[in-house]
Amino acid sequence: MKSEARTGERLEALAVPAARVLPSSAEYLAHLDLADADRSLIRLASNENTEPPSPRVRKALQDAYDVANLSPPTMPPLRLALAERYAVDPGRILLSAGSTEVIDATFRTFVRAGDEVVLARPSWPVYRRRLEALEARIVEVPLVVTDTAYAYDVDALVGAVTRRTKLVVVCTPNNPTGNAMRNEDVQRVARVGPPLLLDAAYADFDPGVDLRPIVHEHDNVVLTRTFSKAYCLAGLRIGYAVGGLSLLDLVDRFLVPGSSVSSAGLNAALAALEDDAYHRRQVKRIVAERDRLIAALRTLGVRAYDSCGNFVAIDASAHEGGSHGLAATLLEHGIVVRPLADGILRVTVGRERENDAVLAALTAVAGAAR
Ligand SMILES: Cc1ncc(COP(=O)(O)O)c(C=O)c1O
Repeated sequence: MKSEARTGERLEALAVPAARVLPSSAEYLAHLDLADADRSLIRLASNENTEPPSPRVRKALQDAYDVANLSPPTMPPLRLALAERYAVDPGRILLSAGSTEVIDATFRTFVRAGDEVVLARPSWPVYRRRLEALEARIVEVPLVVTDTAYAYDVDALVGAVTRRTKLVVVCTPNNPTGNAMRNEDVQRVARVGPPLLLDAAYADFDPGVDLRPIVHEHDNVVLTRTFSKAYCLAGLRIGYAVGGLSLLDLVDRFLVPGSSVSSAGLNAALAALEDDAYHRRQVKRIVAERDRLIAALRTLGVRAYDSCGNFVAIDASAHEGGSHGLAATLLEHGIVVRPLADGILRVTVGRERENDAVLAALTAVAGAAR
């Protein structure tokens, strides 16, 4: 048998250029395995909901057993229910394996090697990874930051769009910084012309804002949402896109036909969607805990940024080892959080006792530094 190293070299030469430079996904997702290996750890690294889903989901999953041997239809009840909520034709909804899948399909619909894509920095690292895989030219527009909040620089974002721009990406509320883009500004970005991917994975936690009018007013917008956060279904991998009919027809061609969403995910998401009271309670609980956590962090002298999501960004740049150093310290206290670029440590908002554990750990850190 040839040596593994020689095989690796031969395969690398055959692979597309991006395969040689892309960082490893296993490394990127190491926090998931870390938390999985020791269930006693407090898991605040991936913006999941730390509470279980609505009890109605249990029954829906049991019912999925009866159809487990059959491929799901293309127009399942979930798609119709979402179409009704957005008051759009069901053709203007696409379901996918988490919103990640339809975000990736949107990239592949519009972007080839060398094409420009405009997005903010910092934002969700997955955009960059997937765009690097396509060898896109990524035009990053820095967010502006004060002591208490990040914000979009909408003039700069609009100004970065050129004739070569194939797609603009806006994440609102933005992961990991927590700031949201005002609807008027979203409308302004949509009017510039290129397709706009509007990733609203965390919009549930910004309850005053209704993004639905945007998909009625602009046919170049792909609005993506997920059941992974407020609906507590991250493990079932179900998300969706709403957008213009022609636009989504193109994106649909880049989803692998019939192969991503399971009947278990479809049933569970429909049951979760229909349990409005449970969803409302989750949102209320998380928003209240988030605001309590931010206030308490600031009392401790930690620079915590305003957040419209189910997470809080902390400036860890002054800590020894930056965000990675602070994440390692919190791990010693039994808490898994997410170190990110630009000195940001992202902490998912958990249950009261989980957030109290974060505060206790950071109190100890502050004490040790004195
Ligand atoms: C900004 C953003 N968009 C999309 C997603 C995708 O979530 P999912 O694929 O679970 O729907 C995430 C998940 O963390 C996210 O942070």
